[in-house]
Amino acid sequence: MYAQIGILGLVFSSFVAAVPLSASAGLISAASSSAPAGHEWHRPGSGDSRAPCPMLNSMANHNWLPHDGKNIDLATIQSAFEAAMGFSTESFVGITQEALAVSTTGNSSTFNLQDLAHHDAIEHDGSLSRNDAFFGDDLHFNPVIWASTALRYGIRVPFSSPVITVETAAKARAARVKDAKRVNPAFNLTSQAGSIGETSVFLTAFWDESAGGVPKDFARVLFEEERIPYAEGFVKGNRTLADVVAMISKVGAVKV
Ligand code: HEM
Ligand SMILES: *[C@@H]1O[C@H](CO)[C@@H](O)[C@H](O)[C@H]1NC(C)=O
Ligand SMILES: *[C@@H]1O[C@H](CO)[C@@H](O)[C@H](O)[C@H]1NC(C)=O
Ligand SMILES: *[C@@H]1O[C@H](CO)[C@@H](O)[C@H](O)[C@H]1NC(C)=O
Repeated sequence: MYAQIGILGLVFSSFVAAVPLSASAGLISAASSSAPAGHEWHRPGSGDSRAPCPMLNSMANHNWLPHDGKNIDLATIQSAFEAAMGFSTESFVGITQEALAVSTTGNSSTFNLQDLAHHDAIEHDGSLSRNDAFFGDDLHFNPVIWASTALRYGIRVPFSSPVITVETAAKARAARVKDAKRVNPAFNLTSQAGSIGETSVFLTAFWDESAGGVPKDFARVLFEEERIPYAEGFVKGNRTLADVVAMISKVGAVKV
């Protein structure tokens, strides 16, 4: 399995090598000018708390959530996701309650982003861009794990579609779970609902109706830079929990 990931990694690196690094550096500075005022991207400082969720990290990096990632309450999540992403306030009540259940802040109404690395709470095995807790780090972006997902998403694959469809995302998710199951002797994913939910909320949040999918550039920037893809054309939507639930049905219906 490691061998397999290694091969995916090699294939992936050869595409990476073909992309001039200056291009992505340019995008970072462009992003600073097109994010809403006061919400420019700033990398996390050394004491800042970050999560295994690329979206929460991006929200903190853009100062929609506290930049230090600490002492976040439900009202803060609700107003941040409404203002930045256009999600109605009921959308993330349930998941925030799960987050508060693993809080280490000493105040049961707040959590730090890093608290969410607590294994088998929201955090689960078979993530798209993080390794399993068994291997020691379920928190940070893992370039090797992500390379396998990025390849399945078709990111940096020349001449492929510019968007990630529901089918592509559903298959990539299921394949990553199978990979994890094969290599992790402590693999534990009694329900795949969380994993399916994350893929579905990602598709809902970044869906481009006219293109019929999520632009691959958006996914690359969100996962690799933990940045909201303003410079790549992201426009805040108008979404509800019902939209996420409808997407969960579509993802679940894909034969994987
Ligand atoms: C628009 C809103 C959101 C989007 C698009 C989003 C997206 C994602 C994605 C794509 C993943 C999978 C990462 C991976 O597999 O490597 C993920 C994981 C996660 N998300 Fe979010 N998320 C959102 C909101 C939230 C909220 C509000 C919370 C909690 C308060 C949260 C907590 C988590 C946690 C703990 C994980 C780690 C699960 C794991 O892979 O083990 N997310 N999210
Ligand atoms: C705990 O957090 C809540 C929500 O932010 C806040 O209203 C409350 O004052 C905090 N309690 C203490 C003791 O700091
Ligand atoms: C497996 O994960 C579930 C939560 O998803 C947890 O309740 C259970 O205790 C875990 N099992 C083991 C053996 O760790
Ligand atoms: C969002 O959509 C709802 C119903 O679909 C509508 O009532 C509301 O006005 C919309 N809000 C914005 C800001 O477009």
